[in-house]
Amino acid sequence: MSIDRLMPDNSNNQLLGATVLVHVELPAEENQEDLEELKRLVESAGGVACETFICRREAPDPSSFIGSGKVLEVAAAVNATEAKTVVFNSKLSPAQERNLEKAFSVRVMDRIALILLIFAQRARTYEGKLQVELAQLQYEQARLVRGWTHLERQKGGFGLRGGPGETQIELDRRALRERIAIIKRDLEIVARRREQNRNLRRRNSINVVSFVGYTNAGKSTLFNRLCGSDVYAADQLFATLDPTLRTVNLKSVGKTVFADTVGFIRHLPHDLIAAFRSTLEETAQADLLLHVVDASDPRKEDNIKAVDEVLKQVGAAQVKTLIVYNKSDLVADSKFEVVRDENGLPTRVYVSAKTGEGLENLLDCVSEILCDNLCSFEVVIPPSEGKLRAFLYAASAVNSESYDDNGCIHLQLSMPAVECARIDKQTSGALSRTCIEKKLPWIEEEFDFDSVE
Ligand code: GTP
Repeated sequence: MSIDRLMPDNSNNQLLGATVLVHVELPAEENQEDLEELKRLVESAGGVACETFICRREAPDPSSFIGSGKVLEVAAAVNATEAKTVVFNSKLSPAQERNLEKAFSVRVMDRIALILLIFAQRARTYEGKLQVELAQLQYEQARLVRGWTHLERQKGGFGLRGGPGETQIELDRRALRERIAIIKRDLEIVARRREQNRNLRRRNSINVVSFVGYTNAGKSTLFNRLCGSDVYAADQLFATLDPTLRTVNLKSVGKTVFADTVGFIRHLPHDLIAAFRSTLEETAQADLLLHVVDASDPRKEDNIKAVDEVLKQVGAAQVKTLIVYNKSDLVADSKFEVVRDENGLPTRVYVSAKTGEGLENLLDCVSEILCDNLCSFEVVIPPSEGKLRAFLYAASAVNSESYDDNGCIHLQLSMPAVECARIDKQTSGALSRTCIEKKLPWIEEEFDFDSVE
């Protein structure tokens, strides 16, 4: 089989159209999925929920999940509404999915397939498309291992149109493996470039602040507001998929990179986390995480836990985090305050990206937390070293300025040690000469000057 046959067939990633929803409550089910969230997911995938079935079962039926009686009811609704898709709010086995498709004569998908579909529809960049394709192929591959006849009824998808017969399935399996290997290789190349950029930022000691949060919490709206950019923000789940970086100049900190990342969701498919690893690693390497929470969402505490879980999986659990309660305009009597820990460091801040309330507080908190990594000291610049002042202002390092009777300029400064070393080099040691304190990292001998360009 040619690789072309395995290229994603976009027809399968099209908008859902009229959709019947099936939500099954099981007594033993931990972390029961949310029906409202499923509705929003369906809408985000371009579907219109035309009928919803809610049923309770002691255990899933092995062949149809919902049992033969309910299958007939749902089939009747599919006919009556001319629905194009039936979406289940639970994980279906390949056999269940196959039997249900036979019974309904329309496409059947579970929650994981639905999330993958939304990601496929949203991916814009080369890397994003590769990552989603990888996740979709790996999802298919896992199902292929468990039940190969699944492919017999595959209409489109990745172009796997093999008829029945083991030989065809074997061919499809090999082609899948080959395509997966190609995508992984291409992704490695992109990841290496990403790593180089990251190293460059690290060498230049530029702080990175990553926006993370449950989908629809308002990350992109907040990001746009703070960076003045136009990242796509919409009342949809996973509106933004590809990470966006912007440079901002922060008070007392200077040049800082803000990164808007993909939204998280409860039980994010494992394949998707694996495929998005390099994007999510960007998060793990940040100096500060802004964990954006929809303050008006009744499930906000659960959402925070779901995000923390993914952060743990990508090794970002240790990164300093500031929780940003966004959409506080929707909460009655909101105070737009800053909450601090026992050491006085900000831990929570209440804002509205929509009205702009609390955003000054937020930026102050970000500066304050990042400044924790900075050297703070005073220089006294005689008139002969006047050029130094311009360098320090350009680096946004000056907190305050005054003049003494001798015409010397007193500057209170905060900036990263690497930045100090660079300015010192550029001004032929003027920073060291004018600095009052002599015990600062870039003046001490063990400072790694190789890291300064
Ligand atoms: P994903 O891309 O799914 O991760 O979403 P996101 O977290 O980036 O959310 P986004 O910025 O797209 O906002 C989702 C919806 O919430 C949009 O309709 C925004 O207009 C709305 N929104 C964002 N911030 C606020 C806010 O402070 N107040 C109110 N009332 N609505 C907001």
